This record gives sequence, structure tokens and C-alpha cells, in this order.
Amino acid sequence: MSEYLLEMRGIVKEFSGVRALNGIDLKVRPGECVGLCGENGAGKSTLMKVLSAVYPHGTWEGEIRWEGQPLQARSIRETEAAGIVIIHQELMLVPQLSVAENIFLGHEITLPGGRMNYAAMYQRADELVRELKMPEMNVALPVLNYGGGHQQLIEIAKAINKRAKLLILDEPSSSLSASEIAVLLDIIRDLKQKGVACVYISHKLDEVAAVCDTISVIRDGRHIATQPMTTLDVDHIVSLMVGREIDALYPPREHDVGEVVFEARNITCFDVNRPERKKVDDISFSVRRGEIVGIAGLVGAGRTELVSALFGAYPGKHSGEVWLNGQQIDVSTPLKAIRAGLCMVPEDRKQHGIVPDLGVGQNITLSVLDQFSRRGKVDQEAELQTVHGEIARLRLKTASPFLPITGLSGGNQQKAVLAKMLQPKPRVLILDEPTRGVDVGAKYEIYKLIIDLAAEGVAVIMVSSELPEVLGISDRVLVVGEGRLRGDFINQGLTQETVLAAAINVNAIPSNQPAAPEEAVA
Ligand SMILES: Nc1ncnc2c1ncn2[C@@H]1O[C@H](COP(=O)(O)OP(=O)(O)OP(=O)(O)O)[C@@H](O)[C@H]1O
Ligand SMILES: [Mg+2]
Repeated sequence: MSEYLLEMRGIVKEFSGVRALNGIDLKVRPGECVGLCGENGAGKSTLMKVLSAVYPHGTWEGEIRWEGQPLQARSIRETEAAGIVIIHQELMLVPQLSVAENIFLGHEITLPGGRMNYAAMYQRADELVRELKMPEMNVALPVLNYGGGHQQLIEIAKAINKRAKLLILDEPSSSLSASEIAVLLDIIRDLKQKGVACVYISHKLDEVAAVCDTISVIRDGRHIATQPMTTLDVDHIVSLMVGREIDALYPPREHDVGEVVFEARNITCFDVNRPERKKVDDISFSVRRGEIVGIAGLVGAGRTELVSALFGAYPGKHSGEVWLNGQQIDVSTPLKAIRAGLCMVPEDRKQHGIVPDLGVGQNITLSVLDQFSRRGKVDQEAELQTVHGEIARLRLKTASPFLPITGLSGGNQQKAVLAKMLQPKPRVLILDEPTRGVDVGAKYEIYKLIIDLAAEGVAVIMVSSELPEVLGISDRVLVVGEGRLRGDFINQGLTQETVLAAAINVNAIPSNQPAAPEEAVA
């Protein structure tokens, strides 16, 4: 009997002639947590889709042994029955169904006679969400009532409910708050104790280091190294991933900040589902020419609602004014906001960022097609030139500009969304979690791009849950907590502690700068 629960040997996977996996091995022992690391497009998700039979046996080469026996699964149902459960990088919940229905989807508890046993499902779902430290969650409500972080934990509840022997988590923490991540890591430790193995994929390497026993690094579809975590540290993992040392995480910031160009006045947003509740409560702020303003806060603080309202993309009732260059502008729809000079890279690229059936290039040029039209026809050569330029600028990894965007790795889809939103040449750029799922090297490129845009005079508003990133590139940091502005800091000597304290409102120092006159009036 093998000491391994899982052995993958020599896995090769091609997409229309392009090798995404080029002979990869991966082994996992019972109760072991293996961190699978690699840059965007390295092949992590593809390898896990081979394992879980999203790509069935026969569509790839190589061998999988599971509990010492060959595994030749043709469907996810078969791999789940064997005890392999995958939580995908992109969430797979059905928003309209309740939390409990989602957790039991395809595994419903039925009464004799076949009717749904809702009582039993609600009770079990309730236990699960409590285990995941979400006691306030109502499992009878539709999933769409809950934000990204909670939805991710619902996915995890669903997976735990399937009694996995091997749990695959592909970027589970990208939309979780610090406290939710702590819960997640505790759950994984708990599962390990119970003998459940994990494959953990994350670009947040401190998490990987905290929870994984073994690290496997892949690069360009090839296996690079497998080592016990005890022999590694984060810097070492990074250099294995990228094949070189990375010395700086953030580019130098050297740009001038000019006069106030953008103002949000008295923005208030009401909860879509509970219209009597405010998600954003009377927030006003301004941004200067060439200024990068980071918006920090806990998940659920109202940051996404705030920036969506600025861009005409907030679905619920809201009020307030948006001013650009001393004039109020119409932001009642995203299109009007774009015409006025605003652009936004949304948090949820699957829902709002990409058009899945279109190619990478078409997605990038979608919002500016009229720029390429010559006498009623699209000048495809000019369009392609722009696309190639963007692909090079962002080092976007794609087999071709014509590949459907869903064929890109998660991090590369994010880069494509960014490229798309830069095409209209906005004067105000709003970014909501711009580096979610992006690898360390590519993050640097995105930061560089943001800083370059600021240097050209663009006013940048960046929502991010990663405090080091907020502090790494912002000129000013706004802190939002429970829908209110709780701090406005010049980013000089600003610490994570100060920002966090403001976010949770413990001994908050509201500001470290004198109030500007126009803000005093507002
Ligand atoms: N359906 C597909 N069609 C064509 N190419 C694909 C498809 N799926 C993946 N690829 C390609 O395979 C390579 C590996 O992609 P994969 O999604 O496995 O990367 P990843 O390591 O998970 O990256 P990330 O960290 O960005 O999520 C990429 O170059 C990608 O473009
Ligand atoms: Mg991936």
C-alpha cells in the first residue's frame, strides 16, 4: 500500500495544440496540506481540473493513482464519490437559491417518498455555517444576500458537507477578510487533524506558508520543486515561482499631486435587499489630479457599494453627487460615467468585468470599438495593434488574442479587464481589488501601471483589502467602516495598525491632516 493518498504522474494537457501542462507530478499524503504555487498561467487550476475530472480521463495524458489504485474518472460526480472535492477559483453558487439549497445542491436530503427534507437540510446547513463562524447567517435566504467573503465560506461549507478525503482550494481566500482567512486556516488545520488532505492554491504566500506542510512549485506547465515548508520561506517560494529574485514589491512613487479634480458628495447607498438599511452613509471625499487614494476597510464595510455608486453601477437606491473639474456630472449609468471621464475595474470580474464568449482582444476593445470604426467598418488591423500593445504592456499570457477570455488563467483575466477599462483613457480610474488573484510579479506590473497613470494626471481611487498594497502605492488612505468614513490619512509614516484601528473604530485618529476648505464646507 502506498503512503500516498494521491499520485499524479506525468500529466500532460493541451488546449488546441498549446501545452498548458507538460508532464507534471504531484503527490499528496493523507492529512497533508500541499501548497501548489506558481505564477499566473503556470497551470495550477488546469492541474486541479485534471484531478477532479472537470477534464475527464482521456482528455489528458499521464496517470492518476488514488489510494493506490488507478483513477480514470469521467466526471466530477465520480471524483466526488471517491472523496476528491474541488472549490473552484470562480465561485459556482446559484445566487437565487438559498444558502442551504446551495450547500446541498445535488446531494439533497430527501424524505421517504422523495420529497425534500428541508428541516434536516436547514439544520445541517445551520451547523455548518456556525462551524465556519458565521452565526448571523440565515441559511434560508438566497445566497445573493451575502457578499463575496461569505459566499466563499458557503462554498467551503458545501465542500465540507461532501465529506472530502482531499479538498482542493483554488484561491479560496481572495475575497475573504483577515478574520475570515483566519477562520479558513483554522478549518484546514482542523480537517488535517481529521486526516483530510488539502491542495491549497493561493497567491497570498504568507497563508500558504502558515498552513501548508509541503510546497510544490510549477512554472510554465512544468514541475520545478517539491519541498517541505520547514525548509522554505516566502522569499524562497517566490524565487522558485518566478525563476529569479524579486527585490522590490512596490515601484517607487514619484509623481506630483495637483488640484482637486474629483469630488464625491454625500454618497448614501441603501441595502438592495433591506432598503431601510444604509450600506453607505453620507460619505464625501475628494481626489486630486495624479493622486492615488486607497480605500481601506473591512470586508462588508461598504467600499464596493460606495465606488459602484460613483460609477453608476450600484443596483440599489442611492443618492449623492459626483463632481469632475468643478462640474457635477451625470453618473446615473456606467455608460454615462465613462462618457464623463470615469472608469471602473470591478471587484467581481465574472459578473461585471468580462464577456465570456468573446475573445481576449474583443474584450479589451469592447468599450472603444467606435475608435476603430472607419466608414462604418471596424478597422481590424488597428484594433489588433492596440490589443497586441496591451498584451505586451501587461505581459498578459494568452495563446492568442482570439482565445475566448474564459481560456485565460484567473490572474490573466484580471489583467484583461484592467486593459479594457484603460482604453477609454479615463481621467478618474476606480479600481476595486485590482490585484485579486494576481501573482507577485504581475502585481508589481499592475502597481507600476497605476503609478504611471497617476503620473500622467489620472486621479486613481483604489479599493483594496490588502493593507500592504494600500500603503505601498497610495498617496492618501481613506478608511471606511460600517458605511461611514472613519479616517482620511496622508500616507506618510502611516502604519497598518493605525488604518486597522480606524476601520474598527478603536481609538480612531480620524485624520492626520488639516481639513481642506472645500471638505469643511461639504
Ligand atoms: N480552456 C482553455 N483553453 C485554452 N487555454 C487554456 C484553457 N484553460 C487554461 N488555458 C491555458 O493554460 C495555461 C494555464 O492556465 P491555468 O488556469 O491552469 O493557470 P493558473 O496557474 O491557475 O493561473 P492563475 O494563478 O492566474 O489562476 C494558461 O496559459 C491558460 O491560458
Ligand atoms: Mg488558476
